[in-house]
Amino acid sequence: MARLPPFLLLLAATCAAVANAQLSENYYGSSCPAALLTVRTTVATAVLLDRRMGASLLRLYFHDCFVQGCDASVLLDDTPSFTGEKGAGPNAGSLRGFEVIDRIKLLLELICPRTVSCADILAVAAHDAVVDVTISTTCFVGLPAQLGGPSWTVLLGRRDATTASASLANSDLPGPNSNLNDLLAAFSKKGLSSTDMVALSGGHTIGRAQCQNYRNRIYADTDIDGTFTASLRGDCPQGGGNDGNLAPLDASSPDYFDNSYFSGLLSHRGLLHSDQALYDGGSTDGLVSSYASNNDQFGSDFAAAMVKLGNLGVLTGAYGEIRVNCRAVN
Ligand code: HEM
Repeated sequence: MARLPPFLLLLAATCAAVANAQLSENYYGSSCPAALLTVRTTVATAVLLDRRMGASLLRLYFHDCFVQGCDASVLLDDTPSFTGEKGAGPNAGSLRGFEVIDRIKLLLELICPRTVSCADILAVAAHDAVVDVTISTTCFVGLPAQLGGPSWTVLLGRRDATTASASLANSDLPGPNSNLNDLLAAFSKKGLSSTDMVALSGGHTIGRAQCQNYRNRIYADTDIDGTFTASLRGDCPQGGGNDGNLAPLDASSPDYFDNSYFSGLLSHRGLLHSDQALYDGGSTDGLVSSYASNNDQFGSDFAAAMVKLGNLGVLTGAYGEIRVNCRAVN
């Protein structure tokens, strides 16, 4: 079958998402016209101060959407009636960005109380953290604050969950030692294709991972570049210790959103076992090669997959609530 041009694929995904009548692009157009600019300027400030924050906000959104859907359940602290997701294996000591979301929520509660959901704040923040726009307000005159990534239509109107689930976070979020079948199964469980899975994994073009998550990869794996291994072992000893030491997921441009993550996989320089699993003789090798040579194809597939991710399990209408404090149910 002939391959559709990337812009048509993006259009198709966007139209499919718009067909979900519940979410819409201009949802806060009259109820909170300053909502989007408030998120954008707060995210831009955070990324200017700490470029890794762009990566952390993208990951926070992924970890929200994969557990109960995009309902801001990831932001809830533990309560007597449930154990939240923050303490779950894939999140504890590793998820970042909660304070940035708190700051945005504080501002939005001042200008339009009980209007903008925490789930939508996460969706817009993830977009603004990676997209290639220049902030031009009185505060940020022409500063290219974000990380150079592709843009997509962020549909809005999600409401916030009143519960969270540590056990779903443990079962549904894929781990760093996953093999290709595990990854395909985890994404398929959410209705996402293998193309979506590979494109979204390209989120690892930015950000860092801790030694405890790549130790197995640099001591046990054989499909890894020798020079790359040697450069990592000093900071991540085999016998344990230094568990929190960080290494970039995409060593060639860790703070820039591009396709070099995929070129790294072709050179057997994937940092996590799960990264290299995408290019290790399996069914996704061809797509990894395509993305490595075609940044536009990666960008448009990533954007289309982000729209799909944002539609997972959303609460609308009478479901859920608009939290006042993103960390607690009202
Ligand atoms: C395919 C399965 C995936 C696995 C197994 C996985 C696993 C991981 C792990 C273990 C880390 C490092 C955490 C740490 O050491 O603290 C990480 C970081 C990260 N992940 Fe993933 N991830 C996956 C998919 C995704 C997706 C779909 C996205 C976004 C669309 C994403 C975005 C990120 C980002 C941006 C970071 C860096 C965060 C930072 O520096 O704060 N990941 N991931």
